[in-house]
Amino acid sequence: MNFHIMTLFPEIIHSYMGESIMKRGTEKGEISYKCWNIRDYSKNKHRKVDDYPYGGGAGMVMTVDPIVSCYNHIKEAVFKKPKVIYLTPKGEKFTNEMAVELSKEDDLVLLCGHYEGIDQRAIDMIVDKEVSIGDYVLTGGELPALVLIDSISRHVKGVLGDDDSLDEESFSDGLLEYPHYTRPAEYEGLKVPEVLLSGNHKHINEYRKTESLKLTLERRPDILDISKLSKEDIKILEKLKNIDKQSK
Ligand code: ADE
Repeated sequence: MNFHIMTLFPEIIHSYMGESIMKRGTEKGEISYKCWNIRDYSKNKHRKVDDYPYGGGAGMVMTVDPIVSCYNHIKEAVFKKPKVIYLTPKGEKFTNEMAVELSKEDDLVLLCGHYEGIDQRAIDMIVDKEVSIGDYVLTGGELPALVLIDSISRHVKGVLGDDDSLDEESFSDGLLEYPHYTRPAEYEGLKVPEVLLSGNHKHINEYRKTESLKLTLERRPDILDISKLSKEDIKILEKLKNIDKQSK
């Protein structure tokens, strides 16, 4: 999986990609990334990449030509037309499902905006999808691009080690993940749930499923999809709902 990041601030990308699992993934060759500095494609003698908005208003707008020209160079370098994602608070909300889908691409271009945004014609000409990482506004698209790269890379084969399982984490089965514990078995009077020390895997699985269902019911009832639950899960869920009713 090759990420191409169109940015005015490549150092932000390098600083994150040079650490931890992203670093390991790039060193192993499971993922690669290349920053394309949009400023390098400005034809202006001062390498200007922004201008005042037509119609007036606050702030500056990134101009169309350096963006399109930068993208044309990426296209030439990869010998095809890779999918382009523009990071913007106006975009479709990013989800785990989207990360899984995008991890199937060979090349992905992430376009990072700055200032008030980019000239609409650049979006119309090269962007396939506009994506937002949440209902808040950041100063630029680099952090959102890194959020996508991190989350997508975790679904690329070989990026996570054998010990970092994708199967049981939050959202993988439409539920939030159960709580984790490690040694010591007791800390300042707080004990690890007895069942986790029992060695009985059937009971441990039941406990974890119950905790996952309980958390999802409490915090994210909007993602609970009954059609994805087993008969046993539905029984546990009904029990939890009854307990909840009785406590009210
Ligand atoms: N750029 C600025 N804010 C953003 C957000 N919330 N999501 C994606 N891109 C952004």
